[in-house]
Amino acid sequence: MEEEHKNIKPIGVMDSGVGGLTVLKQLIELCPNEKYIYFGDTKNLPYGEKTKDELISIAKKIFDFFQEKRVKAVVMACNTTSATVYDTFKDKYDFKIYPIIQIVAKSLSLDKNLEKVAVMATNATVNSQKYTQEFHKYNKNIQVFEQACPLWVPIVEHKLRDYDEKEAIMAYLGNVLDFNPQKIILGCTHYPYLLDKLQKYAPKDLFINPSTIFANYIKEDLKQHNLLNIKGKGNTEYITSSNPQKFEENSKLFLQIKKQPELINI
Ligand code: DGL
Repeated sequence: MEEEHKNIKPIGVMDSGVGGLTVLKQLIELCPNEKYIYFGDTKNLPYGEKTKDELISIAKKIFDFFQEKRVKAVVMACNTTSATVYDTFKDKYDFKIYPIIQIVAKSLSLDKNLEKVAVMATNATVNSQKYTQEFHKYNKNIQVFEQACPLWVPIVEHKLRDYDEKEAIMAYLGNVLDFNPQKIILGCTHYPYLLDKLQKYAPKDLFINPSTIFANYIKEDLKQHNLLNIKGKGNTEYITSSNPQKFEENSKLFLQIKKQPELINI
């Protein structure tokens, strides 16, 4: 009985803030009948400046929370935790866990014309070298250049205005363009919010927002495991660990959320 109805259970989506909404948006478009629970852990933001041990302890609380909510799957709409803590938790819960980096790197490595790829990500993601490791699992010859962009998450989450746009972008993008990549992966789910600005300094089609590839994979995988909900009335519950009003305000950058997020202090 339990198994039969597993597909109607909710899907947990996690990130440090509004970044994961870039993934949620794609998921809602592709799997509109699902019930989503989005957890934006703004209290602990930015994840990119945390240690692995700190991220393990934070992620455990979020996974435990999702377990109580009896989810069928958790989407790690966060590169930083996919890089640092996925391996610790991947077999510890009875729901499926989808890590963005591992899925996106595998899918992109199928393109045998891709020989030089750059990744722009948080400090913790770049220090882990997870993108490089994952690409090299499938294609040893691909050259991967990883660039940390620690200013970019605060720019999005705190809506910084008094910064020099060209300096804040070119401080990181300059190194990446020197590498002359065929593609640049926006390896932090917050970064697609900056695409309008980035395309002033490099051609838009150089950038990959991995959320489409990620969401497509999740849909196919849910289908394959008879977990896809095709009949439900889709909806999303938003939860944040601090300042729901600010979360709602910031979310407007990407997704119009219908009701104020609930505050849950993990
Ligand atoms: N959006 C997350 C990521 O994809 C985390 C960013 C942060 O909190 O530093 O890496």
